[in-house]
Amino acid sequence: MNGNPVIEVLGRRLRLAVIGGGPGSFIGAMHRAAARLDDRYELVAGALSSEPERSRSAGVGIGLEAERSYSDALELLDAEASRPDGAEVISIMTPNDSHHLYAGKALDLGFDVICDKPLTNTLEEALDLVGKVRESGLVFCLTHNYTGYPMVRQAKAMVEDGQLGVIRLVQVEYVQGGKADENDPDPGDGLPWRYDSVRGGPSLVMGDIGTHAHNLARFITGLEVEEVAAEVGAIVPGRVVDDYAAAMLRFDNGARGTFWVTQAAAGVENCLRIRVSGTKGSAEWNQESPTRLVFTPLDGPAESRTPNGPGTLPLAARSTRIVAGHPEAFLEAFANIYSDAAEAIAARRSGTDPDPLALHFPDVVDGAIGIGFVRSVIASSAAGGAWTGAALEI
Ligand SMILES: NC(=O)c1ccc[n+]([C@@H]2O[C@H](COP(=O)([O-])OP(=O)(O)OC[C@H]3O[C@@H](n4cnc5c(N)ncnc54)[C@H](O)[C@@H]3O)[C@@H](O)[C@H]2O)c1
Repeated sequence: MNGNPVIEVLGRRLRLAVIGGGPGSFIGAMHRAAARLDDRYELVAGALSSEPERSRSAGVGIGLEAERSYSDALELLDAEASRPDGAEVISIMTPNDSHHLYAGKALDLGFDVICDKPLTNTLEEALDLVGKVRESGLVFCLTHNYTGYPMVRQAKAMVEDGQLGVIRLVQVEYVQGGKADENDPDPGDGLPWRYDSVRGGPSLVMGDIGTHAHNLARFITGLEVEEVAAEVGAIVPGRVVDDYAAAMLRFDNGARGTFWVTQAAAGVENCLRIRVSGTKGSAEWNQESPTRLVFTPLDGPAESRTPNGPGTLPLAARSTRIVAGHPEAFLEAFANIYSDAAEAIAARRSGTDPDPLALHFPDVVDGAIGIGFVRSVIASSAAGGAWTGAALEI
C-alpha cells in the first residue's frame, strides 16, 4: 500500500457510516479497524444496533457525535443523505436478512456500499441489488475478506500469469469446530438470528462459511462452478440447522473440484484451505498460516512464496504494507478490501481512473453468484446428490 489515492484525488478521506456491528458483534469491530488502517475513511455516523437506545449509546461509545449516532438504520440513511457533509459510503454488517433492505435503500439514495456476506438470503434479492448497482454505477463491495490476503492474491496472480498452466483440479475446504459440541446442539427460545432460516438464510453453514470457500475458489482460479453434486445437513445428532456441506464441483473449463465445509469438527479453529492444480504445478494456501503460499511445479521441488519475498507479483505486492518477514494477517487482509473499495469509490466520485489492481475486491455480482451456489447445493442435496446446474447468467 503506497500513498493515499483517496486523499490524492479528493483532498480528504471518504465519509463512512456503519450499520450494525454493535456490542457483542465480532465482525463489527473488524470492519471499523479495517476502515481505519490505511486512512482512507473517516467514520462519521452509525446505527449499531436494532434496539434504538442501544444503537445510540453504542455509537457514542465508539466516538461518534451524538446527533449522528442513530437509533435506526433507515433513519441514518435518510438523515445522512440530506446532510451536505453526509456520509458517502455505507457499510452494512447486520444479520443476513437485512442486507437487501439496507443495501437497496442505500443504493437508491446514491451511497456507495460495502456489505458483509452473504449478500442476501435469496437469489431474487441478490439479483435486485445487481440491477440497482448496474443502473446507478455506484460501487458495491462485498467483504469476502479472505480474498484480501497477499498470498491469496499472489495465487490469483500466478494463475493469471500462467504459472500453474491450465487449471484442472481445485480442492477447497473451510473447517471450523464452533458447533461440534453435541451437548449444545441448538438454542431454544431466544435463538440467535443465525439459527432462524428466515433471518440467517436457507443454510447456516453455507451462509456463514460456504460462501467464503466458494468465493475463494472462484477468486483464485477465475473459473465458475457449472455443476454440483452435493450433500448438506447436520452431522451433530439432534441438530436442526446445517453444520456441514460437501460437494463435487465441475468448473466451466472442465476442471473438477471438491468443496468441504463444516462447523462441527471438534477442535479445529478456522481452517480455510485451498489447493489449485494446473498442468504446470499446484499452489496451496491455508488461512491459519497465511503468509506462506506453497507452489509445487510439475518437475521441481516445492517453493514458498511470502509477502514481498522473491517472486511476489504486483497484485500481492500492493496488498502488503511492510517488508518481507513481518507477518500481516486477518485485519490487514480485511483492510485491503476496504482500501481497494475506497480507491474505486474515490475514483468514481472524482471522475478519475483507479489503479486496475484496485478492482479485485468482491462485488455484488460475486455475491449473487455465491447465493446461486448456495441454492444449487441445497437443490442437489434435496435430489439425493444429483448433478445440478450452478451456472448463472448475470
Ligand atoms: N466476513 C466475515 O468473515 C464475517 C464474519 C462474521 C460475520 N459476518 C457477517 O456479518 C453479519 C453480522 O454477523 P455478526 O456475527 O456480527 O452478528 P451478531 O449477531 O454477532 O451481531 C450483529 C450486530 O448487528 C446489530 N444489528 C442487528 N440488527 C440490526 C439493525 N437492524 N440495525 C443496526 N444494527 C443491527 C446487532 O445489535 C449486533 O451488534 C452477518 O451478515 C454475517 O454473515 C461476516
